[in-house]
Amino acid sequence: MAIQPLSSQSISQQAIGVMDSGVGGISVLKHIHALLPHEDLVYIADSKHAPYGNKTADEITARCFEIADFLITKDVKALVVACNTATAAAIDAMRKRYTLPIIGMEPAVKPAAEASRNGVIGVLATVGTLKSAQFAALLESYGRNVKVVTEACVGLVECIERGELDTPETKSLIRQYCLPLLDEGADTIVLGCTHYPFVKDAILEVVGESVTLIDTGAAVANQLKRQLEEKGLLSTSMQKAEVNFWTNSPAANASLVVELLWGMHAHAALFDSF
Ligand code: DGL
Repeated sequence: MAIQPLSSQSISQQAIGVMDSGVGGISVLKHIHALLPHEDLVYIADSKHAPYGNKTADEITARCFEIADFLITKDVKALVVACNTATAAAIDAMRKRYTLPIIGMEPAVKPAAEASRNGVIGVLATVGTLKSAQFAALLESYGRNVKVVTEACVGLVECIERGELDTPETKSLIRQYCLPLLDEGADTIVLGCTHYPFVKDAILEVVGESVTLIDTGAAVANQLKRQLEEKGLLSTSMQKAEVNFWTNSPAANASLVVELLWGMHAHAALFDSF
């Protein structure tokens, strides 16, 4: 019997894959689930290889291919790269390799430049994001009329991966990276890594409520919705969606960290990874 290709009607019932170097992309997953509550989601944390921030673009691309290949075995209809570092390093190569819609993300320099009252914005991100050609292009396009101060937050992702959102070490790193931005006068700070929204409260404690923090999770969810609509791939299901988590974290408390960040009951299944 000939195998019939799937119609867009049946593809639309498939899940959306969401990937990150670790648990940070759960901050984006929350926005996606809130905006698209009937879409099944498969989240994958490459925690065994986190952080991506200090890896080369080739290493990150190899990781992204392995993770995306895994998600494709789960029959996802679209892929969200919920990681600024992976987007900068690998999204072009991923779009060449896969035919499904791929949504990436970048630090919100444009919205921050528009939101700033005094023309000074800070960007917290990984080393990989800040030294990427994509970030240079962002500054060229949207950072010309503002002063942009950047800080690479080495070590912060590791704290968040361990679920340490307000320990002395986490707070001390946040002070170390935020105070220079305040010294330069930043009134708006971009959370340019998907892990950082999980320490938003600790950041606000240091910078004060008068500083505006900008996170891109909601914009990514909107962009995903637009792309699915345009391609006729929005789910027509009225049922509550399933959200499944996968991790390759060797940590014994990996599921607990996922649950802490997701804020609801969650079980993270283990997947094998080289
Ligand atoms: N969550 C990531 C990002 O948005 C990467 C963190 C890392 O693995 O260094 O950039």
